Amino acid sequence: MFSTSSNYLRSSISTSKVLISNLVKSFTQERNIVNMAGSERLQQTSRILSRSSPSELIVEKPFKVSVIGSGNWGTTIAKVVCENTKQNPSVFVPQVDMWVYDENINGEMLTKIINTRHENVKYLPGIKLPENLFANPSIEATAKDADILIFNIPHQFLPRVVEQLKGHVRPGARAISCLKGFGLDKNGVALLSTYIEDHLNITCGALSGANLAPEVAKENWSETTVAYKIPRDFRGVGKDVDHSILKTLFHRPYFHVSVIEDVAGISVAGALKNVVALGCGFVEGKGWGNNAAAAIQRIGLGEIIKFGLMFFPESKVETYYQESAGVADLITTCAGGRNVRIGREMAKTGKSATELEKELLNGQSAQGILTTEEVHEWLKRCGKLEEFPLFEAVYKIVFCGAPIEKLPDMLEA
Ligand SMILES: NC(=O)c1ccc[n+]([C@@H]2O[C@H](COP(=O)([O-])OP(=O)(O)OC[C@H]3O[C@@H](n4cnc5c(N)ncnc54)[C@H](O)[C@@H]3O)[C@@H](O)[C@H]2O)c1
Repeated sequence: MFSTSSNYLRSSISTSKVLISNLVKSFTQERNIVNMAGSERLQQTSRILSRSSPSELIVEKPFKVSVIGSGNWGTTIAKVVCENTKQNPSVFVPQVDMWVYDENINGEMLTKIINTRHENVKYLPGIKLPENLFANPSIEATAKDADILIFNIPHQFLPRVVEQLKGHVRPGARAISCLKGFGLDKNGVALLSTYIEDHLNITCGALSGANLAPEVAKENWSETTVAYKIPRDFRGVGKDVDHSILKTLFHRPYFHVSVIEDVAGISVAGALKNVVALGCGFVEGKGWGNNAAAAIQRIGLGEIIKFGLMFFPESKVETYYQESAGVADLITTCAGGRNVRIGREMAKTGKSATELEKELLNGQSAQGILTTEEVHEWLKRCGKLEEFPLFEAVYKIVFCGAPIEKLPDMLEA
């Protein structure tokens, strides 16, 4: 009995020492950071934070995480995040709320099905969801207590969703956007993370990568990129979201996360690869083979990088070819997925993209269609259409009925 107590005492003392040493470490790091200036401070913060492992993380109060959106990718990311919040209850509140744009499925509401059968039968059928995932039909209630909001809806719905969220988001909450596409208004083309920041007054990063949702949902190994810039009003280590917190939230043995700062780079690559994928679909539908598909991807990658550096000069060229969100996402999206499917069926049937989206996707969206239009509108306004022949050829085929056979000529011009 005595020896058990003394072992216990020894182990308690040693645990306390580790805790105190971690606290002192965090305090010293914070003090050093405060003494530095601007960008140096942010870089240092990011370097220190990316070194911590989940077991070293000490937070003042566990972060509450909520997901806005429950489609194919929305539900998959909610599953990933739930596994991590459950595994790290000292860092995150285990229950994750997921806002569901509710619908009636054969007489039963989708939220009820998810909460009782733990399956999203419409958007992610056949995948067992964690029991700490709560499908919430109220967007306001989902957002209310969240410290971290993960946005995951088709981007055409973003303006309305953001309007609904105004006044219901906690001041100081942070966000990650998994959306693909751009915002386009009279001021020009904008990242969707910037749109969220501007309209909700919260800092927003992005997550993007070679991540076809059905494969991630089945826990097949893949990589992703999370981009987040530590904001000026960073509240301190353990009190606010940083790179370590984000890595702990998203990283799984089957979902490897790299955390960087280039929000613009990963967002531009994520949006534009869907336009290139439509082009790959045309080539596939026409049976032109692998060489032609590779040519579309080569030209596409060049136009993606050019677009990024031209309109978002803060993006880094290496992000486009070194990160999962860059060339790897382009390759996987062009190998399969919804946009290729739409392009392929257009080539085979002569039907329009929007007609096929309704016919084939069971309520899901092919984001490449809208992005093609947004990119065209923006390049036209800037007088830069000729500099992006592939993007423009895809636009002409999808929106103006140009024949797919003319694609090689359009790229030569
Ligand atoms: N599916 C993927 O493999 C994948 C991978 C990475 C990123 N993404 C991106 O994630 C984002 C979300 O895509 P997804 O695959 O989760 O969605 P989805 O296309 O599978 O599903 C459509 C979603 O939109 C919702 N919806 C329908 N009408 C609505 C309305 N009026 N208002 C709000 N919501 C409405 C539906 O309930 C459903 O949740 C997109 O930007 C997509 O490009 C998708």
